[in-house]
Amino acid sequence: MKINIEDAIRSIPYYPRAMKYGGDDGLVRLASNENPFPPSQGIINAVLDAVFSITRYPGSELELKQLIGEIYGLGHEQVVLGNGSDEIIEMVLKAARLKGKDRVVITEPAFAYYSIASQVFGYEVVKVPLRDMRTDLEAIKEAIDERTRIIFLNNPLNPTGTIFRDGEFREFLKDLPPDVIVANDEAYAEFAEDKDFPYSMRFIEEYPVLVLRTFSKAYALAGLRIGYCLGEASLISFLERTRQPFSINSVALAASKAALADRDFLRFVLENNRKGKAFYYRAFEELSLDYVSTEANFILVRLGRDAEAITKRLFEEGILVRWMGAYNLPDYIRVTIGKTDENTRFIDALRKILG
Ligand SMILES: Cc1ncc(COP(=O)(O)O)c(C=O)c1O
Repeated sequence: MKINIEDAIRSIPYYPRAMKYGGDDGLVRLASNENPFPPSQGIINAVLDAVFSITRYPGSELELKQLIGEIYGLGHEQVVLGNGSDEIIEMVLKAARLKGKDRVVITEPAFAYYSIASQVFGYEVVKVPLRDMRTDLEAIKEAIDERTRIIFLNNPLNPTGTIFRDGEFREFLKDLPPDVIVANDEAYAEFAEDKDFPYSMRFIEEYPVLVLRTFSKAYALAGLRIGYCLGEASLISFLERTRQPFSINSVALAASKAALADRDFLRFVLENNRKGKAFYYRAFEELSLDYVSTEANFILVRLGRDAEAITKRLFEEGILVRWMGAYNLPDYIRVTIGKTDENTRFIDALRKILG
């Protein structure tokens, strides 16, 4: 069969998935920045209860939106839910369509789905290199032209783990041209420890800023697919109107409410991350490996020319990490901070491979 497909679609690369995912096969999974811990009992109970309602379409989202709103002192009408932040990225692109404004600005490297989704919805992607592994907000501002519609920022940045700080963000938002929307993806914000990490919800009334958050990382619900977006109420209403009617399933709705209620689990996860980070830093220093200090649950480590081969060797040892070739950083791997025993297994294997 021969069928015509537009070049803009034909040229889209596959999303770079981890080599293997899902299932419990004894692999140490440090490739996708997931939470290493099983769901808490409260979440398991909520999921089991919700199973009895799966014959019906999902119920109201209002309660979850109110719970999220309360955390940030916002109203439920300033919150929209998505099937992971991936769907929110799509909702922004859909709702923001405007004639003559067809450019999206992102960093290079950046999370792969910004560029894939932008191409799907007919936008042209402008990529702005990092400076010292950090988002170069000044260069991003300079890259804005009369066709720019959306800027996807990511803080902390995947794959480097670096951040831009509150003052820098405020400066960036000042004097942006009209009709430019800033989608600030904070998928890893819960892990950030820097006291100047921006409280970006503060800016949503004054500037066209949307803040994207997810239950996939700190809240350990990656497999259920749920995220949320905060913004000024009228802007949020357009995202709501362009979305699929039932993209959040009943089980995800129930589990995320339980997850928000379980502050002990979140504290435990963040403490584990702090300890794992310190352990990795020490180990990389002992191995004389350069790494980028991180504010997230993953670390970018420089292994040099053999980074891809070492990733393969690690896989043979049952350890999945991400080679950064697809991110244009072929000398690097990105490794998730896992549980203590997983971190130790990774470092032991790396030590063995490096001799
Ligand atoms: C920066 C960033 N944004 C968004 C996502 C997607 O998250 P979600 O599971 O909420 O779709 C990821 C996942 O790895 C990510 O790294």
